[in-house]
Amino acid sequence: MQELEPPERKTQQNCEAACLPGKASVSPASSLGGNHGTPGMPRRDFLKRAGLTLAGVTAASSLLPVRRAWAAGGNPVEITFASAKFYGKQTIAEVVEAYNGAQSKVHVTYKELPPPSSSTEVHQGLVQQLARRNGTPDVFTQDIIWVAEFAAAKWALPLDEYFGREVMKDYFPGIVQGCTWQGKLTALPWFVDSGMLYYRKDLLEGLGAKAPETWDELIDSSKKLMSAGKAKFGFLWQGKQAEVLVCDLVSFIGSNGGSILQPDGTTVTIADEPAIEAVQMMHDFIRKHQITPEDVLSWDEEPSRRPFTSGEAAFLRNWSYVWKVAQTPADSSVVDKVGVSPLPHFPSKQSAACLGGYQYGINASTRNREAAVDFVRWMSSPETQLRFATQLGLCPTRAAVFEQPQIAQEQPFMQPLKSVFIGAIPRPVTPKYPQVTLILQSEVSRALATGNVKAALQSAKEKIQNVVKA
Ligand code: GLC
Repeated sequence: MQELEPPERKTQQNCEAACLPGKASVSPASSLGGNHGTPGMPRRDFLKRAGLTLAGVTAASSLLPVRRAWAAGGNPVEITFASAKFYGKQTIAEVVEAYNGAQSKVHVTYKELPPPSSSTEVHQGLVQQLARRNGTPDVFTQDIIWVAEFAAAKWALPLDEYFGREVMKDYFPGIVQGCTWQGKLTALPWFVDSGMLYYRKDLLEGLGAKAPETWDELIDSSKKLMSAGKAKFGFLWQGKQAEVLVCDLVSFIGSNGGSILQPDGTTVTIADEPAIEAVQMMHDFIRKHQITPEDVLSWDEEPSRRPFTSGEAAFLRNWSYVWKVAQTPADSSVVDKVGVSPLPHFPSKQSAACLGGYQYGINASTRNREAAVDFVRWMSSPETQLRFATQLGLCPTRAAVFEQPQIAQEQPFMQPLKSVFIGAIPRPVTPKYPQVTLILQSEVSRALATGNVKAALQSAKEKIQNVVKA
């Protein structure tokens, strides 16, 4: 996924996209956090960190070109595009600008939302806009978990008449399914993400061990490396009361053959034995085995990533963006020492990954339907998916793009882990997901803090049942 960069480079990149001539029109970032970074940096701090004065920014802004006339016969259709922030060697703003420059019928103004680790905030912002039904933004990106909700609310335009079955055959079927609600395609695939295990190849070699296939193997290697003083932490993951906790939960429970909600959308299985054992294991990582620091209870993606790439931990669960960070000397002291594999599983069960990623949506109230369709078609085209993969580390949802040699060069971990990406397990699929996730986040946090796993999961079950049956 996205490469993270030191603050200075990030701010510069941001400012380039936002302030320099010839770049896409970007609303000022509300945060500087990067794809999974810390959101909420006020604009004045952003300027300070970027080493810019207000005058400097104004001067740069004044260089913005007067928008050129796009079409010989008239002005281009103006549309807006809102997305959570992602970046790597390029920004989304640069990709949008490539579209603006490639044709003259449509001009897209990009509105940058917070990074995806602030999933709940991005969701709230979008819902407020879409619920006004005033056509703004014309196009948006949606976390895979919002597709059902946005479709059921009729905020997302059904796309079947523009992208028929034949066209959709080029995408991985699981993603097409995730973009479909009650038989209608209401999202067009952008990228797929999934949770995976990062491990220190060098440390495991020293032990004569291989990448762990079961949780017991991971616990065993962690303990050995910690007691030999080779690693400060065994296994890092994300226990913060946030969306990512549910992602971790899905993969831990799935790795014990369990689930949270059955595909019928109403049978709640979070208090069944496989789920109880999995949450107990999360708790045990911290308290019993002490291979996970208590700090994970307040860590989302980036705080958990940093100790790993600074060489303090043996194992990390995280998204695909970490691979590139781990290989970047400015951000990592473990370059060439990191392996990536499917997450471990319980004895005689199978590894499970949580399905993540963002997909395109068209506002059902847009007054610029054709322009919006043209834009998403370009954004989801093989060429643009390849660009997103090589430049921003976003894993393609088109099977043919996945096989491209440029991907093997730029993101060598992707192709070997293809089965992890395309076999990832969705979070509960229901239009009520926003309520379901808040219940899970709070009850699982309680289970991890108190150790009273059964009671917390029983309470989660009852609350979720009330929500999904309502
Ligand atoms: C990643 C995933 C997204 C998930 C988020 C949680 O961005 O792609 O699906 O909701 O992380 O932090």
